[in-house]
Amino acid sequence: MESIQILDAKKHVGETVQIGAWVANKRSSGKIAFLQLRDGTAYFQGIVVKSEVGEEVFQLAKNLNQETAVLVTGEIREDSRSKFGYEIGISGLEVVGESHDYPITPKEHGTDFLMDHRHLWLRSSKQHAIMQIRNEIIRATYEFFNKNGFIKIDPPILTGSAPEGTTDLFETNYFDQKAYLSQSGQLYMEAAAMAFGKVFSFGPTFRAEKSKTRRHLIEFWMIEPEMAFMHQEESLEVQEQYVAFLVQNVLDNCDYALDVLGRDREVLKKYTKLPFPRISYDDAVALLQKNGFDDIQWGDDFGSPHETFIANSFDQPVFILNYPKAIKPFYMKPHPTREDVVICADMIAPEGYGEIIGGSERAIDHEYLLEQIHAHGLDENEYSWYLDLRKYGSVPHTGFGLGLERTVTWLSGIEHVRESIPFPRLLNRIYP
Ligand code: 4AD
Ligand code: MG
Repeated sequence: MESIQILDAKKHVGETVQIGAWVANKRSSGKIAFLQLRDGTAYFQGIVVKSEVGEEVFQLAKNLNQETAVLVTGEIREDSRSKFGYEIGISGLEVVGESHDYPITPKEHGTDFLMDHRHLWLRSSKQHAIMQIRNEIIRATYEFFNKNGFIKIDPPILTGSAPEGTTDLFETNYFDQKAYLSQSGQLYMEAAAMAFGKVFSFGPTFRAEKSKTRRHLIEFWMIEPEMAFMHQEESLEVQEQYVAFLVQNVLDNCDYALDVLGRDREVLKKYTKLPFPRISYDDAVALLQKNGFDDIQWGDDFGSPHETFIANSFDQPVFILNYPKAIKPFYMKPHPTREDVVICADMIAPEGYGEIIGGSERAIDHEYLLEQIHAHGLDENEYSWYLDLRKYGSVPHTGFGLGLERTVTWLSGIEHVRESIPFPRLLNRIYP
């Protein structure tokens, strides 16, 4: 008899197979028991009929506790009433691992309780669906960059540099030196672009941000492409194509997860239409002021209500272009005709999910960068390798960083970024 994963049920209709699974829930009458099972790939129903399996197996089935691990044997059948579409008519049942007093019951639990039990909460159907969307975004990311001629380069996690400012660094000891956990691989990716042309990274990044919001994690994963001989306008095209590709692949390959999450496909479809709208920072400030945001002056960074208002003025992701130089990192290319802004863009997701991409064209003039390093209070010795890139064949180049968890949160349509990563690191939470 073949052992299968229920995800492959379609290929085994009418066959008798074996599946390793856990009992998520059950209900029974005197003659029939319905087991809600999950085997890691999907949730499905197992049906145990007393007259078919006999008294012993039926009693065993009836008394299974939540999260007991079992090996079930039976025939795969189509089941048009369930979301999943297939069930197993159980003929044999074996307990592999018992479970007693599983803490997460089908009743409602508070968020703190669930977060304390994240190692178990991951088993629930909603978390399962979110992780499938996350997996699809990861898979599609590799496909997109591979088919567009990018090579994956892995920047270091332990670094001496602080590309995104020194306020939210995680400092650690590196033998007798100081080191930081990477906030962004960008500076290394710039070196890689000069070596390989078009590159992308995909790795964990760390920010000791004191903000407790539904968009911020302390540890998050970022995809950072960097492209040599490329200006900002072309980078925006890569960004919108990449994001539209992610949305399309989630639509194409995550049917079951989208159903579980109740995510409206018609809404997602709008995000595959290109191009995405663009608005300058200047116009965004004017738009906000015209609409009663008295708290925003030219030169201020946008907070989440501002981003949400701007996003709601469009029905696709929107690029906000060319922010004030004073609120952006040292490496951004200065505007050719304006002192006060830099060549950059943030992509703001619709529906209030905030910034999902930050990117810019990079300054390539050695003297300008040195001056900026000083102006940002950074130690030029720690950046001398980076400055070398501007000495030996410096070329126009641009790049961006997409936050994986913000993208997962948005495409899943969930409330909070903490559910978009298996084990979130949050302000005041490093357990489990
Ligand atoms: O805008 P950021 O800070 O840009 C950079 O780090 C650039 N060096 C990227 C580059 O040009 N190579 O971060 C990029 C993205 C944000 O748009 C957001 O999606 C995500 O990373 N992000 C976070 N996600 C979750 N929690 C946080 N604390 C995040 N901080 C940034
Ligand atoms: Mg940013």
